[in-house]
Amino acid sequence: MTSHPHTDQRVAIVTGGSRGIGREVARRLAADGLAVVVGYAGNDKAAEESVRTIEEAGGTAFAARADVAEEAEVAALFDRAESTYGGIDVVVHAAGRMPLSPLVDLDLADLDAVCRTNIRGTFVVDQQAARRLRPGGAIVNFSTSVLGLSFPGYGAYAATKGAVEALTLILARELRGREVTVNAVAPGPTATDLFLDGKDEETVARLAAQPPLERLGTPDDIARVVSFLAGPDGRWVNGQVLRANGGIV
Ligand SMILES: NC(=O)c1ccc[n+]([C@@H]2O[C@H](COP(=O)([O-])OP(=O)(O)OC[C@H]3O[C@@H](n4cnc5c(N)ncnc54)[C@H](OP(=O)(O)O)[C@@H]3O)[C@@H](O)[C@H]2O)c1
Repeated sequence: MTSHPHTDQRVAIVTGGSRGIGREVARRLAADGLAVVVGYAGNDKAAEESVRTIEEAGGTAFAARADVAEEAEVAALFDRAESTYGGIDVVVHAAGRMPLSPLVDLDLADLDAVCRTNIRGTFVVDQQAARRLRPGGAIVNFSTSVLGLSFPGYGAYAATKGAVEALTLILARELRGREVTVNAVAPGPTATDLFLDGKDEETVARLAAQPPLERLGTPDDIARVVSFLAGPDGRWVNGQVLRANGGIV
């Protein structure tokens, strides 16, 4: 029989918890007192570092590899969370990818791949969350402020996040009576591998200058917003897309 040593502790799954925004969300939720499952795609070392950071600060976590688009892998990750910690209260779905290309040059294989991770991945993760979250729970998906900004080159990526926003608002309504909130956070440019990779200094500086607050977002800026939505102070926020971007328009 599996024992559940943390039965009073709330439990969070963070997909994409090995790097970037997801890693900081995992660290923050653990600091908030939740036991955390750090989901990741393949970067074992980064996932282990994420867990070590949490444990060194006195938190509870383990890492679990699962491609978010693979139903069996995601179901196994949720099973492991339940058998280890006794249940699941919060699912933060931060895993995502961002190929950039003008539409005219877009490789349709890249389109299929980004749709698979960003759209199918959100359906798979949110389906498991919808089936399993305990009352008082919260689902937080990730969109992007690029949906409002319409930057050239972001067509495929923004299209997938449009799908994420649509599903988020509909799932919030489908979960009537369950005491589970469903929201999305839509960051603006945030200093992570996903944003920085492939951009020269000038491009990064130009994007950093755009918000009235005149800097890039940090993973910590976004983790604070997720902490609010996942915690007691955010319970009345449901079916919303929260644009956390320093006021970029
Ligand atoms: N950074 C920004 O400027 C920005 C702006 C708006 C929205 N967002 C959104 O915020 C979220 C987090 O982005 P980020 O910047 O933190 O990205 P990141 O630094 O590139 O990290 C991506 C994370 O997702 C995981 N991942 C990727 N594909 C996966 C898959 N198929 N299955 C499971 N895990 C997968 C990676 O795992 P491995 O470590 O194993 O590869 C990694 O932990 C994304 O949804 C992104 O679209 C980011």
